[in-house]
Amino acid sequence: MGKKASEFNRITIKLSGEALMGNQGFGITPEMISYVAHEIEKVYKLGVQVSIIVGGGNIFRGVAGSAAGMDRASADNMGMLATVVNSLALCDALEQIGVPTRVQTAIAMNEIAEPFIRRKAMRHLEKNRVVIFAAGTGNPYFTTDTAAVLRAKEIQSQILIKATQVDGVYDKDPKENDDAVMFDKISYMEVIQQKLHVMDMTAISLAMEQSLPLHVVNLHTADNIMKVVLGEKLGTLVHNE
Ligand code: GTP
Repeated sequence: MGKKASEFNRITIKLSGEALMGNQGFGITPEMISYVAHEIEKVYKLGVQVSIIVGGGNIFRGVAGSAAGMDRASADNMGMLATVVNSLALCDALEQIGVPTRVQTAIAMNEIAEPFIRRKAMRHLEKNRVVIFAAGTGNPYFTTDTAAVLRAKEIQSQILIKATQVDGVYDKDPKENDDAVMFDKISYMEVIQQKLHVMDMTAISLAMEQSLPLHVVNLHTADNIMKVVLGEKLGTLVHNE
C-alpha cells in the first residue's frame, strides 16, 4: 500500500507553549514533549517539509509580566527566551526519535543555536530537516502567533496549522456557552468583524493581507495535524474568500 498523499509540500505548525506542560501547570513534561514530537513525526513521515514555532507561555508570558507591572519590553524579552527553552526541548525530543531537526533563533545566541537565516532554513527543509524557529520575531510587542505567520510566509509555507487547546474556532467561548458553534471554515474578515479570538490582531491582519490559510485544530487529539495535512475535514480553516 502506497503512502497517502499530502495536500501540502511545506507547512508551518504553531504549538502553544502551554501544550508542553501537561497537567503539571508549568514547564515541560516528558510525556507531552514526547507526544508532540510523535505527532510531528507522523507528518514528517508523509514527506512534508515541516517548520515549527512554539510559544513560551508554559514558562513565562510577556503579557502577564507586563500586567503585573513589569516593563513590557523586558517581559516580552523573557517570553522570547522561554520559547528558546521549549524549542531546544522539542528539537531534542524529535532527534531522539530519529527526526533530524535544526533550531534557528531570532535573537542571536550562536553558542546555543543557529541564527535565523531564511535561505538556510529553506535549505534545511529541502534536505528533509524539521526547522524550529525560536525567540518569536526577535522583537517585543509581537506574539509567537505573529512570528508564525511571518516565518510561514517568509519560507513559503502553503498553510499555517495552529495546533492548540480547543477543537477549532467557535462563535463564542465554548467553555462558557453550551450552545457555542464551531466553524468549519471562516474568512479572516469575519474573524475580525466578529472579534473572534483566533490569534491577535497583528497576526490575523498579516495572515489576511498575505493570504496565508490558517487551520486551527486540537493538538490533544492524536493524529489531528496529520489529518489536516491529508485533507481530512476537522477543526476550522480560516482563509480569504
Ligand atoms: P548543511 O550545511 O546542509 O550540511 O547543514 P547542517 O546544519 O547539517 O550543517 P552545519 O555545518 O551548518 O551545522 C552543523 C550543526 O551545527 C547543526 O546541528 C546546526 O544546527 C549547528 N549549527 C550551525 N550553525 C550554528 C550556530 O551558529 N550556532 C550553533 N549553536 N549551532 C550551529
